[in-house]
Amino acid sequence: MLISQSFHPSKVLPIVAFRLDPWSSEMIREYDKLFKYFGIKPFKDVLPELRKVAEPHHLMRRGIIFGHRDFEKVIDALKTGKKFAILTGLMPSGRMHFGHKMVIDQVIYYQGLGAEIFIAIADIEAYAVRKISRKNVINYAVNEYVANYLALGLKRERLHVYFQSNYAKEYYRLLQMFSRKVTMAELRDIYGEDVGPGKIMSVLTQMADILHPQLKHFGGFDVVLVPVGPDQDPHLRLSRDVADRYASELGLKRPASTYHRFMTGLMGGKMSSSKPESYIALTDDPDVAVAKLMKALTGGRPTAAEQRRLGGEPEKCPVYEMLSYHLITDDRELEKVYTRCKSGEMLCGQCKREAAERLRKFLEEHQRRLEKARNIVDKVVDIPDF
Ligand code: TRP
Ligand code: SF4
Repeated sequence: MLISQSFHPSKVLPIVAFRLDPWSSEMIREYDKLFKYFGIKPFKDVLPELRKVAEPHHLMRRGIIFGHRDFEKVIDALKTGKKFAILTGLMPSGRMHFGHKMVIDQVIYYQGLGAEIFIAIADIEAYAVRKISRKNVINYAVNEYVANYLALGLKRERLHVYFQSNYAKEYYRLLQMFSRKVTMAELRDIYGEDVGPGKIMSVLTQMADILHPQLKHFGGFDVVLVPVGPDQDPHLRLSRDVADRYASELGLKRPASTYHRFMTGLMGGKMSSSKPESYIALTDDPDVAVAKLMKALTGGRPTAAEQRRLGGEPEKCPVYEMLSYHLITDDRELEKVYTRCKSGEMLCGQCKREAAERLRKFLEEHQRRLEKARNIVDKVVDIPDF
């Protein structure tokens, strides 16, 4: 079927057809709509200003972090030397894999630029909405997430890692106060019809996560950046409104946020914790990890002859994603892979073998650091006893 050049589905879809649901397991394909309907701005537009004060992270340079709200506030803080904070959250619902690594890579980058770091462990959300047992939640949070974060290079200075169920009283006061100025109508509008107590609790808790670093008790940070995947944007939008509603009472300001692309699963489709063949975990045995990578889908052609003639399609290739998101930080190195693929000079077998070498080296080094990290997790976070 021929479709005219000017046709684009977003031109004909009504707005209601596109609601982001932070609890659905759907894959977000149409990042364009986030700009169009939700007012997220392209990250590439702030890159030149950021470059004046700091070297952008490779996830930024490559468009993997593709959108933002109010990132100018962060650039301004970097320019003027004003203190700023990063707040993000993790869902301890299974093993930590490379898809989860992106957010912590960003956190580590900002910590290196002087930011104060707050990391919320969403144990209440995991328990109430994802229905995971307390024992598993705590185990995943500590032994998968926090341990891997430290092994990836998160420093203990200017770091606050907390469980949503086990934090300071000022945080709970904020959460309780928020109950006054959020309505059921708006929660249904943002999150869908089936919002019940578990989701309401999780949403209010997440509002407190996002906004609490602004309270004097936690350092009084007026500039707070929240790096997330786009599925979390409904929470960010609500937190901006909540900040406005408490502007005079508590002096709250709107948070800034950035959005990164999700990784594709190794076999195509969504990368999902419930499908071990779709991801590589940071604790996968290197042999197992390499075997998964060797089996992955590629952007290669059906036959070698065709690939030599037409070249591969790195933009559709999960192996290329692993390289560009995680395994090659040097842009020139990555460009070499890209051109060798595009020109048909390199076939997927060779490319995978090279990627597998990088992966093996990464995991071996990471897992050595992990041993040490495991010994200090309990110094970094106060672990709830049930
Ligand atoms: N809801 C987030 C998730 O599903 C976890 C989370 C809790 C979070 N609090 C947060 C994320 C604050 C960002 C900011 O992964
Ligand atoms: Fe992917 Fe590499 Fe094959 Fe290109 S050559 S399609 S990057 S596996």
